[in-house]
Amino acid sequence: MTDNTTFTPRVFSGIQPSGGLTLGNYLGAIKRFVEMQDGGTYQTIYCMVDLHAITVWQNPSDLRRNTRELAAGYIASGIDPERSILMNQSQVPEHTQLGWIFNCVARMGWMKRMTQFKDKAGKNAENASLGLLAYPALMAADILLYHSTHVPVGDDQKQHLELTRDVATKFNHDYGVDFFPITEPVIHGVATRVMSLRDGSKKMSKSDPSDMSRINLTDDADAIAQKIRKAKTDPEPLPDTLDGLADRPEAANLVNIYAALDDRGADDVIAEFAGQQFGAFKPKLADLAVAKLSPISCEMSRLMDDSAELDRLLARGADRARELAAPVLKKTYEIVGMVGAGT
Ligand code: TYM
Repeated sequence: MTDNTTFTPRVFSGIQPSGGLTLGNYLGAIKRFVEMQDGGTYQTIYCMVDLHAITVWQNPSDLRRNTRELAAGYIASGIDPERSILMNQSQVPEHTQLGWIFNCVARMGWMKRMTQFKDKAGKNAENASLGLLAYPALMAADILLYHSTHVPVGDDQKQHLELTRDVATKFNHDYGVDFFPITEPVIHGVATRVMSLRDGSKKMSKSDPSDMSRINLTDDADAIAQKIRKAKTDPEPLPDTLDGLADRPEAANLVNIYAALDDRGADDVIAEFAGQQFGAFKPKLADLAVAKLSPISCEMSRLMDDSAELDRLLARGADRARELAAPVLKKTYEIVGMVGAGT
C-alpha cells in the first residue's frame, strides 16, 4: 500500500465554469479552499476545469466569460493567486495527457456506474458525449498530476474521488510502483450538501431551471433577500435541538446555511433561534447572507472589468502548474514504457 506521508501535503480542487457560482459552490468548496490555503499546511492548487465543462455543450463566448467570472469568484472569495496556484485546466496540457493514460487504466464498468454520468446523460445515454463518460478519468488526472494528497469537495464528488483512488491503486499495482498517492477526500462541515431553496430533497445547482432554487454569488442584496423570504419551509417553529430537524430537510438546510455563513456549528444556531418562527429567522439569515456575499460580488464585478489582468494571472498560474506537472507526466510515461520519455 502506498504510504502517503512520503508525498508533499498538497491540495487540488476544481470547479466547472459551466454557469455562475452558487452558494453551494461557495460554502461547499471555495470557502474551504480559502481555509486550506490560509491554514499553511498545504501547497494549494485551484482550477477552472474548462475541459470538463465541454463534456456538455457550452457556447464558446459563455465559456470564456464563465471561466473569467469563476477566476474572479475565487479571488474575490480570498484565493490569493500568489499563495495558491490558480489556473484554467486547458492551459496545462499535461492534464489531458495523463487523462489519456488513465482512460486506459480505468474500466468501462467503473465509468458506467458513476451517478453523475447517469444523471447528466439522462435517459438517452447513447447520445451523451464520450467525454462525459470519460470525465472521471480526467478528474483523476487533474488530482494525481500534482501528486495531490487532499481534495476538498462537496458531498456530490465523493464517488469521483473513490474512483481516483481506484485509478491510483490500479496504476501502482499494474506497473509495480508506488508512484501515485491514494488521495484523501476532504468532505467536512455543515455545508457539504447545500440543498435547493425550493425542494429540500434536491441539491442546490447551477443547472436547476428555477433561479429561485439557488443563490448566485452575483445576486444583489434584494435578490438574495427575496429568495430567502420565498424559500420553502414548514409551518413549525425551529426546534430546540438538532434532532428536531431530522425530518425537516428545508428547515435543516436553512439552519446549515446560516451556520456555514457564520462559521458556527448548527447546534449553536439552533440554540440561538430555538422556538422562533421562520418569519423571524429568515430576515436574520437574509441579513447575514447579504453581509457575507455582497463584498464578494462587488469585488467580482470590479475584477471582471479588467479581464486582461485576469488572463495574465491565469497564464502565470498555468506556468507554475506546469513546473509541477511536467516531471510527474514524464515519469509516468517512463513507467508506462513510452520511448523518448527518459529510459
Ligand atoms: P462542480 O463544478 O459541479 O462543483 C464545484 C464544487 O462545488 C461543490 N458543490 C456543492 N457543495 C455543497 N453543496 C452544493 N449544493 C454544491 N454544489 C456543488 C462540488 O462538490 C465541488 O466541490 N467534477 C467536479 C469538478 C472537478 C474536480 C476535479 C473537483 C474536476 N476535476 C478535481 C476536485 C478535484 C465538479 O463537477 O464540480
